[in-house]
Amino acid sequence: MAAMGQIVCVLGNKGGTGKTTLAHMLGQGLGLLGVRAVVAVTDATREPLARGGRRYLPTDARRPQELKRVANAMRGVAGWVGVIDGGAGRLEFDLELAALADLVLLPFRESQEDVRVVLQDLERMPRAMALPSQWPTNPWAREAAQRSLQELLSRWPYRVLAPVSALGASKLLLQRELPPSLPTALESACRELAQRVAAQAGIALADTAARIARQGPHAGRGAGIVGDDRAANAEACRACTISRAPRATCSGR
Ligand SMILES: Nc1ncnc2c1ncn2[C@@H]1O[C@H](COP(=O)(O)OP(=O)(O)OP(=O)(O)O)[C@@H](O)[C@H]1O
Ligand SMILES: [Mg+2]
Repeated sequence: MAAMGQIVCVLGNKGGTGKTTLAHMLGQGLGLLGVRAVVAVTDATREPLARGGRRYLPTDARRPQELKRVANAMRGVAGWVGVIDGGAGRLEFDLELAALADLVLLPFRESQEDVRVVLQDLERMPRAMALPSQWPTNPWAREAAQRSLQELLSRWPYRVLAPVSALGASKLLLQRELPPSLPTALESACRELAQRVAAQAGIALADTAARIARQGPHAGRGAGIVGDDRAANAEACRACTISRAPRATCSGR
């Protein structure tokens, strides 16, 4: 485990790209993998989320000064991961948050406008990775979407992660109260995202998986995590394929 808490910021100047949804998916996925995570909620238009049933701690950081306090507090707690959900159109503040972060994710959708903005954001935030979001699942539409990445990939071949697919159920995580159980597809998507982000940010998962394996297959709600990790690792290799990142950085071999 890291000596200090790690911080992942989900940022970007464009609205509606999926920042909030991905921040919560990441928190849930980290929790499912046994990593303690706090998700700092910054969206002033939403009511704070209830903890019940979530695998992470949502915390209210809707005022910028609260957000910085929360970020500093998270930094000081070993083994925890702080996920900070940014807000669109807050460029200066995004740069301050990016400076605090171990990893910045910049979600963008399949549109010329989103790609244009993410190109600018990548330029401004040297440690950020672009994350295709709400990506089409239909093969024909997906092929067209991949083509829209050409400019981005030719400019930044190592800074584009594998896409997060469109998944209607993802909105459940933004409800104040979670339903009693989440669809399997959503939990799998959360775990897969967390696995990939952990590989990028150097967040240790091996200890967690080993601990759960030692505790046996019925240890809490983490049962089955080792097998799930293997599946998620296979997915992590897709990130390398798409971003053409050096394979040494991939945990999915
Ligand atoms: N993977 C996904 N699949 C399907 N819909 C999604 C996905 N991610 C986000 N959405 C939908 O896209 C819309 C915008 O998402 P979200 O609020 O997360 O974006 P945002 O970047 O946080 O927006 P803002 O800039 O206003 O803060 C929401 O309706 C959300 O449900
Ligand atoms: Mg938001």
